[in-house]
Amino acid sequence: MTMQTGNISKYRPFPQIHLPNRTWPDQIIDCAPIWASVDLRDGNQALAIPMNVDEKVEFFELLVATGFKEIEVGFPSASDTEFNFIRRLVDEKRIPADVTLQVLVQAREHLIRRTFESLEGVPNAIVHLYNSTSPLQRRVTFNKSKEAIKQIAIEGAQLIKGLVDTVPGTHVRLQYSPESFSDTEVEYALEICEAVMHVWQPTEANKIILNLPATVEVATPNVHADQIEWFCRNLKERNKAIISLHTHNDRGTGVAATELGLMAGADRVEGTLFGNGERTGNLDIVTVALNLYTQGVDPQLDFSHLEHTRACYERVTRMQVPDRHPYAGDLVFTAFSGSHQDAIKKGMDLRAGNTEPGAHWQVPYLLIDPADLGRDYEAIIRINSQSGKGGVAYILSREFGLELPKVMHPEVGQVVNNAADKDSRELKSEEVHKIFQNEYVNLRTPLKLVSIEREDFSKAGEVSIDAQVEFKGEALSLSGRGNGPISAFVNALETKGWKHFTLNDYRQHSIGRGSKTDAAAYIQIKHNQGSIFYGCGIDANIELAGLHALVSAFNRAQTTHPESHLG
Ligand code: KIV
Ligand code: ZN
Repeated sequence: MTMQTGNISKYRPFPQIHLPNRTWPDQIIDCAPIWASVDLRDGNQALAIPMNVDEKVEFFELLVATGFKEIEVGFPSASDTEFNFIRRLVDEKRIPADVTLQVLVQAREHLIRRTFESLEGVPNAIVHLYNSTSPLQRRVTFNKSKEAIKQIAIEGAQLIKGLVDTVPGTHVRLQYSPESFSDTEVEYALEICEAVMHVWQPTEANKIILNLPATVEVATPNVHADQIEWFCRNLKERNKAIISLHTHNDRGTGVAATELGLMAGADRVEGTLFGNGERTGNLDIVTVALNLYTQGVDPQLDFSHLEHTRACYERVTRMQVPDRHPYAGDLVFTAFSGSHQDAIKKGMDLRAGNTEPGAHWQVPYLLIDPADLGRDYEAIIRINSQSGKGGVAYILSREFGLELPKVMHPEVGQVVNNAADKDSRELKSEEVHKIFQNEYVNLRTPLKLVSIEREDFSKAGEVSIDAQVEFKGEALSLSGRGNGPISAFVNALETKGWKHFTLNDYRQHSIGRGSKTDAAAYIQIKHNQGSIFYGCGIDANIELAGLHALVSAFNRAQTTHPESHLG
């Protein structure tokens, strides 16, 4: 029996919302929503080992530092840890004046009373009341009629209203969630929300928060947007309500559903850092906020030290952010493929040369500047057997200051790729550097430059050199003349019979700055059988760097053509 023949008939398509003149597809999000973190409640209740009070305090501080102004701190009536956590925030005066604590409570009398006890001394609080409203929950979980379910919400709101005076030092706002809104008839969700509004009597200055959760994500994000637009349009006193989104990620589209929900008219977004939460998680606020940022919209949250944010999150929740997680994963700014590396290098080089303030970010394959998130450029290009010349040249340039001539890139790229391929693994930058050094830099076999003396004949512009060398361990003295030390050394080699190559190209540059400057030289020679050989020399002395480059190229040719011996 296959999956299709046996099981698929037990599923049904989710019904569409009748909204023929929907407007949300034409909207753009041009400002940040009100953000509310539910990490310490929805996120925490989904952990195998929930955070202890110390860990919650650390996470709370992180959320405050990130810029959250509304933070759901828990379900204080549900456990002593949650209750004590709020008390600790109050006793240790950790709640900034502009931060509102949100507390969640079911519409049950003893739980509501205990919740108010936890609020003593909290300057600003949102009491978040919820009950489940979908047909499935009404029938299966509660076995109650629509009217009875509505009554639960009304009585909860009435009790909360009556208890506000018991915490005179606290400014209390009400949030109501028809839990499982995503699966509830929109007409009924509206009816129950308006009934709660009727009890609470919000004003434009003191709005109610109506949170419309996709408790379980049951349809495509456009259906969620239709639900939100339908609700906003039909709510009688829309001006007295903040419409809040709370998506989960069962179908993997929590972020998309939230973005379309904002286009559909919502004002507020609940979610967690990196999408922690029940099952496949809550909405990932980091992603939505940074998506806004990449459109030039200030998200009003600060993720400029995203690795620190992630490290703190991972430590206290014991969860891990996957390598491919948008913006925060280890690999999301890394290109392995050669063509991508090449394009990124070109984009980065162009950008480095552009000093225009506020220049548009345009680097192929990179949606965002990793530096804006406190991430290193070095992590962008990594080397494995898929990588190309651009990546290797980029690493050698950016991390080791070696500006290889362009003509060398393909060959060096190939040498490094072959090494990665041989071991079937990624190479670290240091390994790439080592391969380059072993293959091209200051090579000493079979020919080794031991010492050199130079004499200048300024009138003729000529240089003569006397060099001590070893060839396959045998000491030799060479002398030659030329219009510079390199051509003089070539001439010296020729006088000993090594006439099998010509000098094609020579480049040099300095590495580093100040007193610790080295010179790097690159030489290309052509063997008389047609092949090209490159060599590199690195030395504090620029002249010696050039000679080492020549000897290196000579040695590489010698390895391929060992027959080219003393004539
Ligand atoms: O997902 C959900 O419905 C909730 C409610 C309590 C808002 O977390
Ligand atoms: Zn939830």
